[in-house]
Amino acid sequence: MNSAAAKDRITQLSETLKRHNYAYYILSNPSISDYEFDQLLKELEQLESEFPEFAWEDSPTRIVGGDITKNFEQVAHKYPMLSLGNTYSEAELREFDERVRKVAGDQFAYVCELKFDGLAISITYENGKLLRAVTRGDGTKGDDVTANVKTIRSIPHVLTGNFPPLFEIRGEIFMHRKTFDRLNQNLRQSLLEQGVDEDKIADRLYKNPRNFASGSLKMQDSTEVAKRGLDAFLYFVYADQSVASSHAESLALASTWGFQVNQNYELCRNMDEVWAFIQKMDKERPKLSFDIDGIVIKVNAYDLQQELGFTAKIPRWAIAYKYKTESALTLLEKVSYQVGRTGAITPVANLKPVSLGGTTVKRASLYNADEMERLDLHTHDWVYVEKGGEIIPKVTGVALQKRDLFAAKITYITACPECKTPLQRKEGEVVHYCPNDSHCPPQLIGRLEHFVSRRAMNIDGLGSETVAGLFKAGLVQTYADLYLLTFEQLNGLEFESLDDVEGKVKKRSIKEKTAANILEGLAASKQIPFERVLFALGIRMVGETVAKKLARQFGSIDKLMEADKDSIAGMYEIGEKIADQVINFFQDAENRNTIAKLQSAGLQFEIAASEGLERSAILEGKKFLVSGTFSISRDDLKALIERNGGKIVGSISKSLDYLIAGEKMGPEKLKKANDLQINIISEETFRALLVQPE
Ligand code: IVH
Repeated sequence: MNSAAAKDRITQLSETLKRHNYAYYILSNPSISDYEFDQLLKELEQLESEFPEFAWEDSPTRIVGGDITKNFEQVAHKYPMLSLGNTYSEAELREFDERVRKVAGDQFAYVCELKFDGLAISITYENGKLLRAVTRGDGTKGDDVTANVKTIRSIPHVLTGNFPPLFEIRGEIFMHRKTFDRLNQNLRQSLLEQGVDEDKIADRLYKNPRNFASGSLKMQDSTEVAKRGLDAFLYFVYADQSVASSHAESLALASTWGFQVNQNYELCRNMDEVWAFIQKMDKERPKLSFDIDGIVIKVNAYDLQQELGFTAKIPRWAIAYKYKTESALTLLEKVSYQVGRTGAITPVANLKPVSLGGTTVKRASLYNADEMERLDLHTHDWVYVEKGGEIIPKVTGVALQKRDLFAAKITYITACPECKTPLQRKEGEVVHYCPNDSHCPPQLIGRLEHFVSRRAMNIDGLGSETVAGLFKAGLVQTYADLYLLTFEQLNGLEFESLDDVEGKVKKRSIKEKTAANILEGLAASKQIPFERVLFALGIRMVGETVAKKLARQFGSIDKLMEADKDSIAGMYEIGEKIADQVINFFQDAENRNTIAKLQSAGLQFEIAASEGLERSAILEGKKFLVSGTFSISRDDLKALIERNGGKIVGSISKSLDYLIAGEKMGPEKLKKANDLQINIISEETFRALLVQPE
């Protein structure tokens, strides 16, 4: 493309994408699909990299997404971001009211608002346009997270109505509980698929929506932030000139400018009304779609606020009443042990049903043997349960005064409750494992679940519960058995599913339509490419990327099964640990047998010829380093080298045979390669190397 045409196209794409962004983020009404949007964005990125001189300073590639903000810039707050005094007690709340009353007399009002459990943000608008968004930081200066805040749909980029020319609005950024559950589930799934052990997964998941929200807001890549579904409520306006005479009025005004103001606020004339609001919201709290941790009480009239003023740290005209974490006392009926799909054991307290935070709790996590030891649990103890940020409640303590004199200490099990294999505990780890991964039922079910999951064989109609049902009904043991299922076996099959939180067992059955769907899904899965089949086998440490590399390097399952450890471990970014897992997996006779069955069922165990992945040994023994950008992705280029017998190395050294130099290669690398007299070749020259001599 010539330079004039490129300039035109860049302008056209930038304008179009801005319009779509506006429709998406501000009007909440996307005008094209995400996919179409991403395609246009990619085209723009490509053009901008070729013709950087025409890129807009506020190009859509920079504003949403892109790796622009490596570190956040610190910005001083024009008005310090103070915190609030807080209390958990009604008496202290009444003391606060008395102090206020001494200054304000009796005829005034409070505004009671929800105290959102998120992170504070201060957003500056100039002439109705979002200028800057800064986190609370240390109260005097915070992180400039404007690019990220702009991805939050409920925060307007452009205001409507009659707003002051320059002002700051403060509020709270948070994540809805449902979004949190969904994203955390996805994260869990992808960690499992990457081969992360179950006991390590808990540490890597977010503990509550607040953490997830704050982690998201501090991400460097705004396109990622946009996927986190963050939301915001605004609750305070700061402007140099007066915009309203009371807080409630400013909230109403802020709504007319386009801000999302939570409508659960009330004007109260005295502490009795305040207290009634606090209690009402405490009851309604479980029904909200987001977490709150209390109620904020603010004097409504601005002139009174001013008169009351501030202490060094906090306003005298506002206070936060915080709800205590609810706990309940109940009887421990027994401790049971769950076996996870990787064999990790979790002890669970089975409780006399008790009501807590709006739900009935029957089970609570005891985490591991150390935690049980810490609690020193005895039979029929009375225990305190709490709902933390986690979905499953936890046991926090024992009411010792209620312990029976003859109660026996509960000791941790030594054998797997499902298959009776003696448990193991690795050095330095807290979790016990059942090592019987090829016969222990929950572990077999886990492998089946992984096999049918969306990113593996993606079999329609077969979710985790159905798979577990098929296993328990004795219809499938390994994933090869799935391909022998018949309509008669599936149709009407009844199975049970267990609700983790409440421990309720629900009965379910497979309907005619689902049965047909499952069979169709299984038939369709026979076309799933080899690399995904390889991933679906559930070899430890073989996630999607490794599966892809192995598939491309070896081309077929037969070649991979014949491969020795060195030829796997020698691959770029594979290494010995993964190679060991692969070798172990294929040495197991049962695994080989299962694969043979899958082969006869017609699954793809070779790379498709259409992918044109020819292989050769033409680069045998040669070491390559690739740097810069090429006509194909760097990963594809590396795969091409490996398929032809070459080796990829990560750094320049004397033993390097070729450096393939792409566009935008770093100058230091070039210099070092020159100094060491390495062969520096272009992509074209490299491709010429691949042509077999006649
Ligand atoms: S007003 C000077 N209102 O709670 C007034 N804060 O503990 C400043 N918060 O830093 C804050 N919901 O992050 C206010 N409705 C609400 C709030 C709220 C949550 C947070 C905010 C603040 C912290 C104080």
